[in-house]
Amino acid sequence: MIGALGSRVGQGEAVTDVYGEIERLRREQNAVILAHYYQEPEIQDLADHIGDSLALARKAEAAEADVIVFCGVHFMAETAKILNPSKTVVLPDLDAGCSLADSCPPEEFRRFVEARPDHRVVSYVNTSAAVKALSDVICTSSNAKDVIASIPEDTPIIFGPDKHLGRYLVEQTGREMTLWPGTCMVHVLFSERKIRELKLRHPDAEVLAHPECEQRVLALADHVGSTTSLINRAAESPAPEFIVATEPGVIHQMQRLAPEKTFMRAPGEGSSGGACEACSECPHMRLNTVEKLYLCLRDLSPEIQLDEETRLAALAPIQRMLELG
Ligand code: 13P
Ligand code: SF4
Repeated sequence: MIGALGSRVGQGEAVTDVYGEIERLRREQNAVILAHYYQEPEIQDLADHIGDSLALARKAEAAEADVIVFCGVHFMAETAKILNPSKTVVLPDLDAGCSLADSCPPEEFRRFVEARPDHRVVSYVNTSAAVKALSDVICTSSNAKDVIASIPEDTPIIFGPDKHLGRYLVEQTGREMTLWPGTCMVHVLFSERKIRELKLRHPDAEVLAHPECEQRVLALADHVGSTTSLINRAAESPAPEFIVATEPGVIHQMQRLAPEKTFMRAPGEGSSGGACEACSECPHMRLNTVEKLYLCLRDLSPEIQLDEETRLAALAPIQRMLELG
């Protein structure tokens, strides 16, 4: 395994022990490695901390290391940089973006917000710094209900960019909100029909779903929540089997916590009518690899850079979220 990785690193340098080199560089650079649950299992196992978006933002806020290696997608690393302007924040692959963040271009969002000057703007953390800068408060899937509850009842709310999460929150909180029409390319692909078929073959299986899924998929779910919440439910539930409707990277931690249980990826519709399981892997998250993690630790590149005006404007709504506890 290590030899195979070493020979794939290349870059004019013969590295035979990539894992050993990562260990050495982590100490030498005084770096902390943060990884989201959607990262490939090898990266999760190498990380100092793994977590959902909120937990990783808190770890980034508290980081004492000089370097933060963020194994996740761009908006997550950018949030770490917003919170830590003096630290070097690197992302193994700078192209690791997010379809949901991309579905909310800042200039269009600005016009949407300016057309509703009496609204408070709640933005999901899956947004660019420029969109955060247009927001009053940020939320993640872990704390969205609390963030919405912190806004006075008579104040109208804009919620963006995920329309499915937004609709779910309207249902859960009873608050009307004006929704930005964004979606995640991964979570909209789960097939209600294929999940029903799988459930017929596994009647004891619980369905676990992330709130970025469509309403008809959430309607089948026994438990809806953030990645951390889904992992905890898998460990605590008495069910022997689970159909997991989110990025399958989470299954690594589910299996670690409950090795006796069975975890199935929720299927997508598939292009030829057959169930597609690989469709649920986030193509952005999966751009990061152990080799790229090694290279970015070695070179301290690619680095997240932000102009100070945008950083400060994006910091205020993130801090409002973190202060809510
Ligand atoms: P969590 O905050 O639940 O980890 O979700 C992040 C994400 O990108 C979901 O697609
Ligand atoms: Fe973005 Fe969707 Fe990937 Fe999450 S799963 S990082 S929302 S594209």
